[in-house]
Amino acid sequence: MKRNILVTGGAGFIGANFVRHMLESSDETRVVVLDSLTYAGNLENLSGLDEGRLKFVKGDITDSAVVDALFVDEKIDAVVNFAAESHVDRSILGPKAFIETNIMGTFVLLEAARKTWTSPEALKSCRFVHVSTDEVYGSLGDTGYFTEETPFSPNSPYSASKASSDHLVRAYFHTYGLPVLTTNCSNNYGPYQFPEKLIPLMVLNALDGKSLPVYGDGKNVRDWLYVTDHCKAIEAVLDKGRTGETYNIGGRCEMQNIEIVKLVCKEVDSLIEFDEGLSLRYPYEKPRETLIKYVTDRPGHDRRYAIDCDKIERELGWKPEVTFEEGMKKTIEWYVTERAWWEKILSGEYLKYYDAQYGNRG
Ligand code: NAD
Ligand code: DAU
Repeated sequence: MKRNILVTGGAGFIGANFVRHMLESSDETRVVVLDSLTYAGNLENLSGLDEGRLKFVKGDITDSAVVDALFVDEKIDAVVNFAAESHVDRSILGPKAFIETNIMGTFVLLEAARKTWTSPEALKSCRFVHVSTDEVYGSLGDTGYFTEETPFSPNSPYSASKASSDHLVRAYFHTYGLPVLTTNCSNNYGPYQFPEKLIPLMVLNALDGKSLPVYGDGKNVRDWLYVTDHCKAIEAVLDKGRTGETYNIGGRCEMQNIEIVKLVCKEVDSLIEFDEGLSLRYPYEKPRETLIKYVTDRPGHDRRYAIDCDKIERELGWKPEVTFEEGMKKTIEWYVTERAWWEKILSGEYLKYYDAQYGNRG
């Protein structure tokens, strides 16, 4: 089916992977990316794509004039809403941008869809997929899983803002019959992830022989999913999901943070053995594990996330395909090869933010 998909936040980590996936997966798809290019947005994430089927618009999802015009001018019949402030630590330092983008921005998008998709045909054929997080469910103890029925219990300004947006999306279905779908996914990793998140941060610091800051006792658990698996799940929801429903997405891959950090250390050590420091500019003779530093815990740090993704597997036939071992290999290789991509990021404002939290990165 020919579609004009508005992908908000398409220059960010998951958004860019999704745009790449969708343009590859069907010749019939045209993508309009709306992204305000915050510190986390990067046009290089979209480089090399078919410009005939991709349009980039620099703009803010909270700007209703821009959003309303795009819906009409680009004949948008599907939305995938990735645009968000996405980093928990930043939400603790400064929640305002999270409230504005994650709540108000989602509201503006929903309103534009409500104003534009008015005919019965449009309400039948159009789709609005809202990409959300498992963090809305709060924290688990040692056992149990988040299902679509788990009550919301967000603990950080980030997760509270995402939970608010999820509620708005739900309300637009029940009140206005808008054809919405929501996904709640676990932790992603893979190419193009901004190096403030656990895995790329540890990979880059390990490559360059810098300290590896582990929060608290390092035993918090996350459920990891390779980013292309997430993109395929969103595609399945967009194509086949039932409107008004929410779908949990996860990797069935629970890991303690410290296990991940140790695994990164092992992988980077083994790369160095073979690489002789050719692409690793700062070879470091001692095992990478000696770089691990336990630091003050994140306030309100959720202990464990684990997703029950039975519903999407059963209803839509989606399953995670990439094992954690394969995914980590691909991810580390990508960061080793794409040094220019992340060195540019580390040369700018981001480093100042990082140093303010942890002291000098070195
Ligand atoms: P990201 O921070 O890498 O990218 C966010 C993108 O949104 C950036 O390109 C940024 O420029 C853009 N953006 C921010 N504010 C905007 C605004 N006001 N208007 C327009 N564009 C704006 O985030 P990500 O990790 O790719 O996450 C994407 C979405 O997926 C988010 O909604 C997040 O809550 C959700 N999610 C992320 C994960 C994860 O592990 N990263 C897991 C589950 C759900
Ligand atoms: O669960 C889905 C969520 O996953 C998404 O909604 C968020 O957008 C995404 O950022 C991610 O949130 P987390 O807080 O789980 O991801 P982060 O990479 O920041 O941290 C993962 C775990 O690692 C967490 O327990 C905190 C810990 N951590 C993180 C960093 C950056 C450390 O121990 N040291 C660090 O330096």
